[in-house]
Amino acid sequence: MPCSKVQTNPDRDTLRNEGSPIMRRSFGLLPAALLAAAFALAQNAGPAREPDVPYVPTTETAVKAMLQLAKVRSSDVVYDLGCGDGRIVIAAAKDYGARGVGIDIDPERIREAKEKARRAGVENRVEFREQDLFRSDFHEATVVTLFLLPAINKRLRPQLEALKPGTRIISNTFEIGDWKPAREVIVKEDAGDAYYFGSRRLFLWIVPKRK
Ligand SMILES: C[S@@+](CC[C@H](N)C(=O)[O-])C[C@H]1O[C@@H](n2cnc3c(N)ncnc32)[C@H](O)[C@@H]1O
Repeated sequence: MPCSKVQTNPDRDTLRNEGSPIMRRSFGLLPAALLAAAFALAQNAGPAREPDVPYVPTTETAVKAMLQLAKVRSSDVVYDLGCGDGRIVIAAAKDYGARGVGIDIDPERIREAKEKARRAGVENRVEFREQDLFRSDFHEATVVTLFLLPAINKRLRPQLEALKPGTRIISNTFEIGDWKPAREVIVKEDAGDAYYFGSRRLFLWIVPKRK
């Protein structure tokens, strides 16, 4: 079949291939602008799904009391499930030299926690993971802290009971179903604390030896 000769228009080809100076400048910037927009969107994206518990931080007084109740040592690995701004694991690292891991589903909380850890100078001892606590792996924990809700604690119980025997679990305010705590204390909060509530009930469980 005879091939028809393609007529090229040098002007049009120039326009298509190289563009006008304005278009060239705009399209040259487009990938960078798209990348920047995607990055900004990712930065501002909210949680992958609705959190199971709203963000209410533990008061500074209660943070200290929770770590004392757990008798945290430098050899401990402290996990806070639903870590908020990371204050519990940051305090465990700063005050006791422990290693800490905070897990939160909300990327904004994770950003805050990382920044606070950096400012506290403990970023080499703590790690923050943007994860759903129900899908997270915390088997290496020797201390687990919780400030969640009764129904969430109850759902977590099988995972908590499967932790290494001797692991201490501390919960702010809420119990874990009918699992009998080893200790229960009431801590009086400082009226100057943000989110001051008056007093808090704290619970301690120790994972028993397997039968
Ligand atoms: C009451 S706040 C406690 C914050 C922190 N533990 C403290 O005591 O200061 C509960 C936290 O759990 C987080 N959260 C709720 N549902 C979650 C889930 N399924 N997985 C991980 N984090 C979750 C929330 O984003 C919030 O930061």
